[in-house]
Amino acid sequence: MSASSECKRDFVSSELGTKNYWDETYGREIKSFNDFGDVGEIWFGEDSQERVLDWLEDCDSVTTDDPVLDLGCGNGMMLIEMTRRGYTNLTGVDYSNGAIELAKAIAEKEEITCITYQVADLIATDCTQKYTCLTRQYKIVIDKGTYDAISLIPDSEVEARQAYLKTVKHLVVEDGIFVITSCNWTKDQLLQFFKPEFELFKKIPTPSFQFGGQMGSTVTSLVLKPKS
Ligand SMILES: C[S@@+](CC[C@H](N)C(=O)[O-])C[C@H]1O[C@@H](n2cnc3c(N)ncnc32)[C@H](O)[C@@H]1O
Repeated sequence: MSASSECKRDFVSSELGTKNYWDETYGREIKSFNDFGDVGEIWFGEDSQERVLDWLEDCDSVTTDDPVLDLGCGNGMMLIEMTRRGYTNLTGVDYSNGAIELAKAIAEKEEITCITYQVADLIATDCTQKYTCLTRQYKIVIDKGTYDAISLIPDSEVEARQAYLKTVKHLVVEDGIFVITSCNWTKDQLLQFFKPEFELFKKIPTPSFQFGGQMGSTVTSLVLKPKS
């Protein structure tokens, strides 16, 4: 076992780690979107999405034509909000066909045409000798809740997280950034896991709470840079 995979979970596997769960969820959400125009869940709330986007907006090295990839994009609301903020080169991937179908339907209704959506499994190893069928690289790679979902896979989460790490390394350009938002892992746990390939660039401030003399956060957002 490598040093990075020694990062231990403080939580147990759940159905949120299964593709079946996401296929069923997005199946319901497509129906709800078609019937009522409801776009579905924004994971960890709109505030955590806004915090990431505000940070990107204030970052000198980020421009609105930088290629952006949203890993496990779900309904694609992060990317929709990015188009509203002027970004033009956007891609979303998810392993659930239903997620991509929903994301495309929402973008179409909003008359947004500059987002590319693709079905891809971020931990699949069978497309080429590389990880996943994704061949492009991106300046900005975003994950909100997807590494968390992968960490909940029953039985094979350690291998899955290692595969995910390889995939992300391959997707981020040398001078790019990887912005990860997690509610299951702390800052230290994320840094320990990603440290073979990435180092901390910035921690995006998130609300914290105090309990029993200990400070904690409900959600952690980190900006990581590939190690040279
Ligand atoms: C907690 S949801 C987050 C969705 C979206 N990022 C958001 O913030 O609203 C996790 C997403 O990861 C996707 N996902 C989980 N495992 C995946 C994998 N191996 N490859 C691609 N997508 C995956 C799920 O289908 C789901 O859309």
